Amino acid sequence: QLEADAYRLDLAELLEALPARPANAHKGLYGTVLVVGGDYGMAGAVAMAAEAALRCGAGLVRVATRLEHVAALVARTPEVMPLGVASGDDLKPLLDSADVVVVGPGLGQSEWSRFLAQAAVASGKPLVLDADGLNLLAAGELSLAGAAHVITPHPGEAARLLGIANAEVQSDRFAAASALQHQYGGVVVLKGNGTLIAGGGAQLLSDYGNPGMATGGMGDVLSGVIGALLAQGLALTEAAALGVCLHGAAGDLAAEDGQRGLVATDLIPWLRELLE
Ligand code: APR
Ligand code: MG
Repeated sequence: QLEADAYRLDLAELLEALPARPANAHKGLYGTVLVVGGDYGMAGAVAMAAEAALRCGAGLVRVATRLEHVAALVARTPEVMPLGVASGDDLKPLLDSADVVVVGPGLGQSEWSRFLAQAAVASGKPLVLDADGLNLLAAGELSLAGAAHVITPHPGEAARLLGIANAEVQSDRFAAASALQHQYGGVVVLKGNGTLIAGGGAQLLSDYGNPGMATGGMGDVLSGVIGALLAQGLALTEAAALGVCLHGAAGDLAAEDGQRGLVATDLIPWLRELLE
């Protein structure tokens, strides 16, 4: 019954929420996104989230990650400002300067991961919580009370958050999205074929995207896209809805060269083009 009520999103309509840049624009108008993640073996996740955030118009993008990953991040994208952090205390100055914090891409679930995620959540800054940020939440290591947030689970993460089986999530995705919204508040993005956005009393559906997008890193790109839109002043539901449609539509354009072999960074030039 919820399915009938879900509003099918239209990218062109959503893009109208992003104001044109005035001639005297300066980067302070477009916000600072801080991406927190990239434990050993997963540096690429923060690289992709940060690059997506830059290409979606954030004023500044910083990354808090393992010290060993900083040089590679700067070499790939010099506009990103990465800093090696060893603890939640190291993270504090970065959190203070952020308008939005994306927590979770490649974060892992080590003690380092947990302290960083806890410090980020305690900052009170608007959050995009993805990947291992969600696994830490499901494990009871984080409390989202108070912070404005968008959570972006794939069906497996949604199942862990709800304490049910993956198949149960997929058998009624509308019910799962609304259960997550009731349990965790904020805005829920339940990813997959037909991504759902639940929040502010609405259920929204994006049918952009394609199975070529079922490859590692696609979710990391989405978290950066939503972070950049929040940093530019969109409300939680608007940023989630536009972000999901933009990401799916970029995936569809990138898949014109073939779905098989499509990779997450292929979306990035299309994100920029769609935002023009
Ligand atoms: N149709 C449409 N969209 C799809 C499809 C499909 N068949 N398959 C995937 N997508 C989209 C999803 O909607 C989502 O936006 O691609 C993205 C995939 O995101 P994730 O499932 O989070 O994938 P990934 O980026 O690999 O995650 C990185 O974080 O979530 C953890 O365990 C995950 O280690 C992995 C890491
Ligand atoms: Mg993911």
